[in-house]
This record gives sequence, C-alpha cells and structure tokens, in this order.
Amino acid sequence: MRKLHTSLLVSALAVAAVSAPALLGSQAVAANYAASIYSDGDVYMRNYVNSLMSYAKENGDRLVVNYANEDLAQEMNQLELAVVRGAEALIVNPITTSSGAYAIELACSNGELPVIFINRKPSDELLKSYVNAYYVGSDPSESGRYQVDIINQYLQAHPEADRNADGEIGYLLLQGEKGVPDTVMRTLSLESGMEASPITFKQLAKVSADWKFTEASRVTSDFALRNNGLDNLELIVANNDDMALGALDYLQSQGYNTGNPDKFIPIVGIDGLDRAVKAVEEGTLIGTVKNDFDTQARIAFKIAALAAEGKSVDKTTLGAFLYNGNEVSVPYLKITK
Ligand code: BGC
Repeated sequence: MRKLHTSLLVSALAVAAVSAPALLGSQAVAANYAASIYSDGDVYMRNYVNSLMSYAKENGDRLVVNYANEDLAQEMNQLELAVVRGAEALIVNPITTSSGAYAIELACSNGELPVIFINRKPSDELLKSYVNAYYVGSDPSESGRYQVDIINQYLQAHPEADRNADGEIGYLLLQGEKGVPDTVMRTLSLESGMEASPITFKQLAKVSADWKFTEASRVTSDFALRNNGLDNLELIVANNDDMALGALDYLQSQGYNTGNPDKFIPIVGIDGLDRAVKAVEEGTLIGTVKNDFDTQARIAFKIAALAAEGKSVDKTTLGAFLYNGNEVSVPYLKITK
C-alpha cells in the first residue's frame, strides 16, 4: 500500500458537515462521505453543495465538504485527511485533471474507495483507469448551442438590436476559467453555432472573467473604456450566469437594461441560477441555460452511496443512464421569457 503524506495533513480546512442524525435506529449506521470542491468563491458550486448536503441529510449520512481555494496542495491535503477520517466515498470537483489523478491514486491505495468526479470532467483515460471512478456532469457543447438558439430567436424577433445598423451584431464574450472543459467547449460550440447562423456576428472581444460576477463587471467596464462607450456593443454572451449578472450590473450602472428600449443590450448566460431566472422574467437578460446542479448532485450522491455499499451502479439502481459504464450526463434546458 502506498504511504500517505501524513506530514501534509495539517491543513486549513473549511469544513461544513451535515452531521449524522442524533438518534439512529440500533441497526442504522450513518455513512461517512467527503466532498472536495475547487473553490468556495463559486456561486454555482455553492448551490451544488447545498443540494449535496440536503441529499446527505435526507439519507441520514454524514458529508464533510472541503473547499480547496483553487490550491492544489490544499486539495490533496483535504483528500488525504478525508481518507484518514474514514470517508467511504470521495466526491471530487477537481481543480485540474492532474488533481483528479491524485484522488484516484489515493482512493485506489485505500481500499478501492469510490471516487465520483463532478462538474469538471477529468480525462477519459483517467476515468477508465480505475474501476471505482465515476463522472457526473453535462455536455458543455449543448449549452453553447442552446445559447445560439436563444440569441438567434431573439435577434430574429428584434432586428432593432443592430443598434448601429451595420448589418452585424457586435458582441462581447465573457469566458469562464481558462482551460476548464466547460469554458473551452461552451465557447467552441457558441462560436461555431454563430458561424452557421443566418445572422452575422462580429466578436468585439473575448475575455476571461473567471466565472465571477465582480470580474465580469470589471472587464465589461474595461471594454467600454477601450471602445468609446457601449454604442457598438449589441450582445453579451457569458459562459455562466454569475458573469452575465456582473455584466448586467455594469450596464445598469450606465443606464442600459433598465427599461428604456433604446438602451438595451441583450445578455445571455448559462446555469439557471435563481437570480438569472428572475432577470430573464424581468427582461434584463434575454435567457439562460439551466445547468441542473440539483439533479447532478442527487445522482452523484446516489452513486457514492451505492458504490460505497458495494452495490452495482447501473441504470436500474441509479435511475439514470450511464454511458461508457461510469458517466452520467444531465441535459441542459433553455430558459427564456
Ligand atoms: C458552471 C459555472 C461554474 C463552473 C465551475 C460550470 O459548469 O456553469 O458557473 O463556475 O462550472 O467549474
């Protein structure tokens, strides 16, 4: 058995725990699971964690959630500590694919613990390399395509959106964290969908705002400064909702998207966060694409429970289809007014 780096175990853990029910029947023993989340500053992942916790609670199990603060050493320490503390399965939202490999190495040398990757897909090779590895996520290309559908539909109904009447829709693309599959694939499918569209689009800028509201607000304001204001900006597409809402916040501070039809710049996001859905209802965003964290969390938790008990994880036991034998993809959903 490989030796654990126990010297690294002293770590600053941000631990949130759903504790075991105070009184369990004499037979019932609460299971003990651990989740490692790449950052605590990610709004979408916070929602995801709330769902994971509620499924653990519903099951009477203990789930310890660690946030790795985008720091690989912390992520590894937290995973090691979880194993030492007797976690029966690891739910991992890895910072990078290489940290995914570490989770597998650790689980493999500690009684073949199940590892359920969520939201950030490690390489296919890695997923195939371990019999107790799973992935629960969604197909990021689908969300980019859905954004194009929402945009095409809106622009076809609103030709006045070409405010400078140059026959092209000038847009700003706000990207998520660099190199993450969701950023790469959402962007690729959006750009190729735009190329295939009967509408002509012109990318004015493509900037990473790291999935974050404040960063998106800042880069949108920066865009306005560099481009003599917002007159030529006719569309904002964001790889997620938090960034779409950050851009909206800046636009509103400049008198846009507050009710004056001459000062409206369509914005579309991804995730279906409550605040974004509300903004769609209010007409300040034109749409979002729901990235169903609650269903993903339910499935991830169920896999953890089945696999930890040594039960088969299949369509019947899980109630969801597994492709490649160990991956589940939850469909996206378009949300417009
Ligand atoms: C979500 C983003 C989130 C990211 C974290 C994506 O699937 O759409 O909001 O920041 O996952 O990895």
